[in-house]
Amino acid sequence: MARIRRAVFPAAGLGTRFLPATKAQAKEMLPLVDKPILQYAVEEAVASGLESLVIVTSRGKGAIEDHFDVSWELEKNLEERGKPELLRAVRAVSDLARIAYIRQGEALGLGHAVLTARDLVGGEPFAVLLGDDVIIMDAGDPPCTRQLMDIHERHGAAVVAVMEVPEEETGRYGIVRARPLGEEGVFEVEDMVEKPAPGQAPSRLAIIGRYILPPSIFPALEETGRGSGGEIQLTDGLRHLLGRERVLACRFRGRRLDAGDKLGFLQATVELALRHGELGSAFGAWLRSLDLEGY
Ligand code: G1P
Repeated sequence: MARIRRAVFPAAGLGTRFLPATKAQAKEMLPLVDKPILQYAVEEAVASGLESLVIVTSRGKGAIEDHFDVSWELEKNLEERGKPELLRAVRAVSDLARIAYIRQGEALGLGHAVLTARDLVGGEPFAVLLGDDVIIMDAGDPPCTRQLMDIHERHGAAVVAVMEVPEEETGRYGIVRARPLGEEGVFEVEDMVEKPAPGQAPSRLAIIGRYILPPSIFPALEETGRGSGGEIQLTDGLRHLLGRERVLACRFRGRRLDAGDKLGFLQATVELALRHGELGSAFGAWLRSLDLEGY
């Protein structure tokens, strides 16, 4: 079975949930504490052992490429001013991984964004990470993507990350119907549907933005018409695979923060600030000092 080496990061969306902040700025570059949103997912992929990364961008997203590139003017400046720690932090970003970029010309949806990366991915299974989903781990647990890769290595199947969500939130996710496989946290997916209304969802197991996909997802996506929101959905592409190939779901260990809308972004900011090595205790002390009566 092919070892997974590649990861795709769809980052071409218009960021409409963040307007007006994203009118002239990529959503993926909004900072969560001291790193852009997308860097968390890139670091997770690297920590999972992935070496070749593809970021799918679009017009107006040039800052993403600059961020992960070497900035020699900045490095020279920091060196001359004797700021070795900042220099290390800046270099660490460009040293993270080899990254290739491809543009999704039209915003036709997540499935279409993945299809756009086809020529760069080639004929091997690969990971997909959605930057909006930031997943924090307890000490000692492997990163979420690594957990999916381990399941893929055991079973040779496609794997999606899932977590339980409240009934009233099913309309925000892809939802799977799945049966336990007799292995802790692993399910066999029987069906899936993108953003079903509460009451129509087959379960409360929601897909979270981490996937291991076989190359056969590409022809499946080509056959996939527009679905929820008029877009080509990855969930619908995966549904095409069912029946021909196995798709597993992994109820991962770790906690998912939704940095994809304003409220989730604020919550993620607070959680990540509290966990931050340098800022955590001062930030926590300030939070405790707030008088929240009346809000
Ligand atoms: C996407 C997927 C959806 C998944 C979600 C996880 O939706 O289409 O199936 O549940 O990510 O965050 P989006 O949030 O991009 O609308």
